[in-house]
Amino acid sequence: MNAKILVTGGLGFIGSHTVVALQEIGFNVVVIDNLSNSSIEVLEGIVKITQQRPTFEQIDLREKDAVNRFFEKHKDIDGVIHFAASKAVGESVEKPLLYYENNLSTLVYLLQELKKKPNANFIFSSSCTVYGQADELPINENAPVKKAESPYGNTKQIGEEIISDTCKIESGLKAISLRYFNPIGAHPSAEIGELPIGKPQNLVPFITQTAIGMRDELSVFGNDYPTRDGTCIRDYIHVMDLAQAHVEALERLLGDKTETNFELFNLGTGNGNTVLEVINTFQEVTKVNLPYKIIGRRKGDVVAAFADTEKANKILGWKAKRDLSEALKSAWKWQQKLSMGKN
Ligand code: WQD
Repeated sequence: MNAKILVTGGLGFIGSHTVVALQEIGFNVVVIDNLSNSSIEVLEGIVKITQQRPTFEQIDLREKDAVNRFFEKHKDIDGVIHFAASKAVGESVEKPLLYYENNLSTLVYLLQELKKKPNANFIFSSSCTVYGQADELPINENAPVKKAESPYGNTKQIGEEIISDTCKIESGLKAISLRYFNPIGAHPSAEIGELPIGKPQNLVPFITQTAIGMRDELSVFGNDYPTRDGTCIRDYIHVMDLAQAHVEALERLLGDKTETNFELFNLGTGNGNTVLEVINTFQEVTKVNLPYKIIGRRKGDVVAAFADTEKANKILGWKAKRDLSEALKSAWKWQQKLSMGKN
């Protein structure tokens, strides 16, 4: 019988691509999503790609009893990949309690259920934001975790500490935290992709919405940074590569291959690109002119962040295969599909 995997936030951007990757290699997937930042249409997109309908339960993980009822009903869950969380840096500054409740109490309720099982495997969706502005580039997993610049980043730091402390006394619990750099792109079929609700906070969805005509022009937040062209550097990783990393991490846990029962991996391409390089690459691959203007810096932005991928390459046996051009092409194809079908 194939392992049964719970994916929380499975209708979200990275979650949906991970559900597809899991189904395609035979995992039996159960999705929980509260649809607060996703659409039930995403489930249809997943089915169109894999021809397999994951079990779907609309649950808000803030409801402790609902979480308990779920695990009473699904006693045979072999692993959990936990994406469900609020993730907008700016919003977290405005609504800190929403972020601490939604990102942390839900994590505690999930772990309280997993500790009841003799063996449990848990993958946590974390972020390179825990490093703040790292002292050394590229950034490896030993880089110090710095004081978070936002409640969002703080919830990722605290979340990792909660898992680490729990793993120390729950020997049956094995966990891997995956620290994403900047996820972009979409499934090549354009059946699923990034679905920002309202005005996009992130660069690439803002680019594609500007290119399609939904936005007048892109604002570039500062070009006076100490970088090769004055704009910030990030490690933009294709969401398909990110999804594959979750499969590798899950197989590492299920195969009992972990060296300790709490491991951390940075997930990036290892390459850094400036904002202007992303804009120019987008224009090259799509032949679409992108109107943009340089404005002031955005509070909280770090100058540069890109991953040292050696640990993930050597220990997880995973390496990003897709480059920036392919990711931007897929993001554009998805945006065009969205704008046609208005789905
Ligand atoms: C990238 C670069 C901006 C928008 C955050 C979180 C991270 C993850 C991804 C959730 C920066 C510039 C952006 C725009 C711009 N979050 N930019 N104009 O801030 O690196 O990472 O989102 O999963 O955890 O920290 O991503 O895409 O917002 O910004 O100039 O309209 O693009 O200044 O240099 P960021 P981003």
